[in-house]
Amino acid sequence: MEIGLLKEKFCEIYGEGEIRVFVGPARVNLIGEHTDHQGGYVFPCAISLRSACLVRIRSDNRIRIAASDLPGIVEADISDLSGYGSIPWGNYQLGVAHIMRQKGYSLYGMDMLFDETVPHGSGLSSSAAIEVATAISIATISHERVGTPINKVELAQIAQMAENEYVGMNCGIMDQFASAMGQEGQAILLRCSDLDYHYAPIQLSQMGYTLMICNTKKPRSLVTSAYNQRRGECDEAYADLKGHVNIACLAELSPAQFHENEKYIRNPVAKKRAKHVVLENARTIQAASVLKEGNIIRFGELMYASHESLRDLFEVTGEELDAMYRACVAQKGVVGARMTGAGFGGCAIAIVENEQVEAFTAGACESYKKQTGYTPAFYMAEITDGAREIYS
Ligand code: GLA
Repeated sequence: MEIGLLKEKFCEIYGEGEIRVFVGPARVNLIGEHTDHQGGYVFPCAISLRSACLVRIRSDNRIRIAASDLPGIVEADISDLSGYGSIPWGNYQLGVAHIMRQKGYSLYGMDMLFDETVPHGSGLSSSAAIEVATAISIATISHERVGTPINKVELAQIAQMAENEYVGMNCGIMDQFASAMGQEGQAILLRCSDLDYHYAPIQLSQMGYTLMICNTKKPRSLVTSAYNQRRGECDEAYADLKGHVNIACLAELSPAQFHENEKYIRNPVAKKRAKHVVLENARTIQAASVLKEGNIIRFGELMYASHESLRDLFEVTGEELDAMYRACVAQKGVVGARMTGAGFGGCAIAIVENEQVEAFTAGACESYKKQTGYTPAFYMAEITDGAREIYS
């Protein structure tokens, strides 16, 4: 929904008065998939699809949460936010508020209205966008009233904790970090073991290319349990390896070290998962470096290899993402394509020559539809700033 209309809706629900607007963007990950939970490198950027949080401070201790696309209002008292983990919606917001309060942020009673332009369950991190929009709202207000510093890296960590502890998804830090720390026109090369990060300009359009987001529209289900299972298999591989090689996390292994030591991983499934993590981590480092040199063709080849490893070794692509991948690769002017995010449905991304974008969209749409029966959606990704207040 457009911000002006949202303000009207806010006033209909909560009455007239001052309204502040904060956003948490969605993200795409260019490469470095399923490496974050093993301490590896990721290469995401924040995009213009977003969650918006409209806020007004109340004079009592109530938090009230409304959503533009859901009926009803979720209410809670800020002095006890511990019991809301499994409510049907509003748990991301209350989880973040709860953790922020525990960490010493001043929490006030608030009326809130949330609105998302990120399609839910699309693998573009609608949940991180909601968490980060909540966190930046609370942090900004706490900062203005009692001077608590705004540290966006900490906000990303809080948002991740809310997702881990409140929602039960054992995710890494990538999504929340990209949403909090994104910068216009830049991807972030982030090492998840210690959160060391660098911005890398993405000037695709000057180089003649467009970054396309390709939504399979496959409704995702059981993502949390399948994700937690994959993460568990990686942890198992690390446990088998760490007595034999001196590493602090799985992604610290080089491909050569993996080759020497893979014999110690007892479970063959865990071995495949670990191989993906190690090779994907190496690809991510290489991808960031070839992009810096302007070698988009090599970057695209690394994207293809990433998708194939997620398909064959990590086994998180599934029928629809593989169909979308094939549909993209077959089009003229495509130099790279892969799934993005957790997998099991959701979105792929493709790098397409500017003048082929229209033909790409028509051709990939037709091919994907023929293969799966689902009607996909295509968006051009605009790389934006991360968590922020907007004034309009
Ligand atoms: C999800 C998680 C992230 C990351 C990706 C896979 O988006 O939330 O932490 O693990 O999957 O790379």
